[in-house]
Amino acid sequence: MKLSPSLLSADFSRLLDEAKSVEPHVERFHWDVMDGHFVPNLTFGPPVVNALRSKLDLPFDIHLMIDHPDRYADRFDIHPDDVIIFHIESEGDPGAMIDLIRQRGARCGITLRPGTGLDAIAPWLDHVTYVLVMSVEPGFGGQTFIPESLDRIRELRRLIDTRDIDIAVDGGINVNTIGPAVAAGADILVAGSAVFGASDRLSAIRTLRAACA
Ligand code: DX5
Ligand code: ZN
Repeated sequence: MKLSPSLLSADFSRLLDEAKSVEPHVERFHWDVMDGHFVPNLTFGPPVVNALRSKLDLPFDIHLMIDHPDRYADRFDIHPDDVIIFHIESEGDPGAMIDLIRQRGARCGITLRPGTGLDAIAPWLDHVTYVLVMSVEPGFGGQTFIPESLDRIRELRRLIDTRDIDIAVDGGINVNTIGPAVAAGADILVAGSAVFGASDRLSAIRTLRAACA
């Protein structure tokens, strides 16, 4: 089980310090890029993510919740094992998007809203190494985990079959939901408020890991 804290719930005035405070204790970082169009919230884009990329060692999961992801995917600085994740609902040809991400040197990830059927991403599973299951409607941290996501993780695990693909789960991950998500087949757990909302982050991380044991 790998933890990928979402900086969406961190203090934006101290992003680097916030990330550094947990870096020795987690495996990846999750960046929620939002444009105020694809989702009704606005966060940060390539300039901010790139500024942090040069200061942190862990791999980045860059979750694009934006219109025209093809216009921005090649603007991110990429380190080995970084993933750029696009929504299957965003406009454009998924095949071209996958090519663009790979040309950038990133691993390719795909994701979908809770209401989108897994059949939408099934044709692309041979071309990605990361699938992000949204367990809340994308847009905001601190929402409640949608229980049906557990069936979706299990179904996705069957669909992936023998392919070498990480399943990540994003939204509402906390001490109560992380165990069931891992049991259902999740490899990477994104947690925003459960990590950065806690006064003692290390204790929060330990508690999350213990809840999977
Ligand atoms: C929501 C984002 C999530 C969010 C998760 O659109 O994709 O990554 O930060 O936050 P929590 O863990 O608080 O639900
Ligand atoms: Zn996310």
